[in-house]
Amino acid sequence: MTLAAPFAATPVEPRMDASTHRTVLDYHQRTKHHLDRYAAGPGTLDWDAQPEPFRHWTGAQTLALPRTLPDLGATWNALPDTRPAAPLDAASLSTLLRLSVGITAWKEYGGARWALRANPSSGNLHPTETYVIAAGVKGIPDGLHHYQSHSHGLEQRAWNDEPPAPGLWLGFSSIHWREAWKYGERAFRYCQLDLGHALAAVSYAASLLGWRAQLLNPDSLEVARRLGLDRDADFAGVEAEEPEVIVALDTSAPLPATWDHFAGKPSLLDPHPLYQWPVIEEVATVTRGTPPTPNPSFRRMPESSLIKLDPGVRRDDDLPATQVILKRRSAQAFDGQSILPHAEFRRILSCLLPGHSPVWDMWPHTPRVHPVLLVHRVEGVVPGLYALPRSDGAEAALREACRAEFVWDAADPELPLFQLIQAAAAKTARTLSCHQDIASHSAVTFMLVAEFDAPIAENPAAYRHLHWEAGMLGHVITLEAEAAGWRGTGIGCFFDDADHDVLGLTDSRFQVLYHFAVGMPVDDPRLLTLPAYDE
Ligand SMILES: Cc1cc2nc3c(=O)[nH]c(=O)nc-3n(C[C@H](O)[C@H](O)[C@H](O)COP(=O)(O)O)c2cc1C
Repeated sequence: MTLAAPFAATPVEPRMDASTHRTVLDYHQRTKHHLDRYAAGPGTLDWDAQPEPFRHWTGAQTLALPRTLPDLGATWNALPDTRPAAPLDAASLSTLLRLSVGITAWKEYGGARWALRANPSSGNLHPTETYVIAAGVKGIPDGLHHYQSHSHGLEQRAWNDEPPAPGLWLGFSSIHWREAWKYGERAFRYCQLDLGHALAAVSYAASLLGWRAQLLNPDSLEVARRLGLDRDADFAGVEAEEPEVIVALDTSAPLPATWDHFAGKPSLLDPHPLYQWPVIEEVATVTRGTPPTPNPSFRRMPESSLIKLDPGVRRDDDLPATQVILKRRSAQAFDGQSILPHAEFRRILSCLLPGHSPVWDMWPHTPRVHPVLLVHRVEGVVPGLYALPRSDGAEAALREACRAEFVWDAADPELPLFQLIQAAAAKTARTLSCHQDIASHSAVTFMLVAEFDAPIAENPAAYRHLHWEAGMLGHVITLEAEAAGWRGTGIGCFFDDADHDVLGLTDSRFQVLYHFAVGMPVDDPRLLTLPAYDE
């Protein structure tokens, strides 16, 4: 069955031939924003016709999850931590979901009301859907469930006659139309960045429960089958869900392979889609595949290089880790004057290095995404451009690919931080970030630069994985900033090739995939904050 986007059937058979790599590069190229032209998107937006932010499964058995959040007793600064594993029960699952993809608050202004979640999302459009596969989890029926974040409950999609081996897994899909509705062709990138944030959020929540979160590597078709996303008849006439990935939670039990029974029908999110962006389905098809397997030469940074802060330095140091996660917000404006303490700056950077955050336990791969920083206001750091290559090989490759006039002066005694050039970079950061003030009023704005051509030539699915890694980096930055009493904001809107000009990148060995700003937030007092769920 072939339907026009956004109702395209899922999944389409992967098409792996010589043209696949080209299709990915072409998609990336055509979805760049340029100083004089944005990537193709809707000419007009009817805000009242925004797709439904929550999907429901009608006809599925629902189960309310416990709403009280236990005190997990860990402070942020104690992470990463080894804790006794929490029991496999409904309370633990509820905590995991609330701290990773659950609603954290409702906001209200001028008659409008919108939910914020533990994971940020481009335009707050939340294309990521979460599924739970439970086997022998106390208080949860065995089977496949859709997580309904609106009510913090489960909708049972499938089950088997025979009891499976005990285990717990989360599965993820993307509903492209949620993002494409607003962002047009570039939306696929945002869906993938959002997924990176969601995965990172899961890894923090799991580590607080003492659980190991591990990405499994069935391919996309297999993920679709296990999550019931390949059931065309169920999705007839509603938006398709693109299979992404399955995460095992502290289990090595085999994932249930098939389901004997299915129930429910997914709700329609947008009855009147005005546009079609077929390149999104095209790039989705050619980037289906398996997540990378850990590289045997992967090297964690020694524990001693994690910058532990002197407890006296940190403002919110004794905040429970759960509170840091629940109060995370994206700043909508920064004050443009506060100076980020050097210790906080170093702590944020050190957590981006392999091994220094629970996220890198979930992603135990040689890093392929490397921050370049536009430093505006950091105590003791001369404003300018800096690079933090996250692997030994990347430093040499970036030196070779970037502008010859970059000096690459070591800028930290412990971290692989290099000054490229001294400069007042605020105006540049603002221009590069689609003229957004958050990029210049911040203390520091990151450009996340990915190794690009080689990984994608080797495996086109790497196009997704590089975005996941960039989203994961963004998530580490935002939570570390939050814990320090500062705040982060993802910046998906940037002028790609203008970034590359600044860095002197003349080919696609490296490409910038994401910007991220950290600063002192200025809150909008007009917004009313309401609780996430009635306790
Ligand atoms: C991939 C991604 C791209 C984003 N791009 C921008 C951006 O260009 N400008 C901006 O102001 N906020 C941006 N944001 C922040 C979102 O608007 C924000 O996450 C969303 O409104 C939800 O709010 P919250 O993060 O406070 O929960 C981005 C977030 C993500 C995850």
